Amino acid sequence: MSTYSLAIHGGAGTITRNSLTAEKEQHYRDALLEALVAGESILKSGGSALDAVMQAVMSLEDCPLFNAGRGSVFTATGQHEMDASIMRGDTLDAGAVAGVKGIKNPVVLARAVMEQSEHVMLSGLGAETFAKETGITFESEKYFYTEQRFQQLQEAIRGGKVQLDHTLSENKKFGTVGAVAKDQQGNLAAATSTGGMTNKKFNRIGDSPIIGAGTYANNKTCAVSCTGHGEFFIRAVVAYDISCLMEYKGLSLKKPAELWFGINW
Ligand code: GLY
Repeated sequence: MSTYSLAIHGGAGTITRNSLTAEKEQHYRDALLEALVAGESILKSGGSALDAVMQAVMSLEDCPLFNAGRGSVFTATGQHEMDASIMRGDTLDAGAVAGVKGIKNPVVLARAVMEQSEHVMLSGLGAETFAKETGITFESEKYFYTEQRFQQLQEAIRGGKVQLDHTLSENKKFGTVGAVAKDQQGNLAAATSTGGMTNKKFNRIGDSPIIGAGTYANNKTCAVSCTGHGEFFIRAVVAYDISCLMEYKGLSLKKPAELWFGINW
């Protein structure tokens, strides 16, 4: 029997029990389940890992609870600049967008870059021009506004901090999102999407759109979607390093994951 697998994430960090009501926890669980179902329905019916990771990430981008798409955090100038990428493990084709504004689903634009341009990464205004030319859906500033995010920005400004997904006073977390999958044909794919860091300045770009740092997929090894403070993932080229440890050192996924993330299966 052919098998498939799918894993998703809604960001790094810990939400402490006392900062989460039962109702809020249920919202998170429902949103994560919805994303899993969106991806799994594709894999179950023999669809591709690429479609599955895109659908799962789109579902999370549409949910204001997570720091991607609709729920993206505010920049220092009160805007939303989003990063996303997607990669297929069979061909090593990849697409990415950085610092884009007004795009409903940045992961869809990243896939369009991969499939409809001769490039891997587009940024800012150029990426938005490409989005218009390829019929990608835009949304108004209002769509991306949430009071909670706005308050996070005020708090980050007061604290003089550039803040990843958390408020300063509470351990609230609203994370970068991502998905990895293996389809019934044995192909892998990975996708990541984020609004980056609250109060970020100067068109700061994180690891999420950087192939090899925040996202990587290779049928020979694994599929990786990272979440956390992007600068560290960029310096260490984490996603590619995990794949390299498997490919060149012959390690199973367990060991590199333990090394990088302290994940102990
Ligand atoms: N890992 C998300 C970011 O640093 O932007």
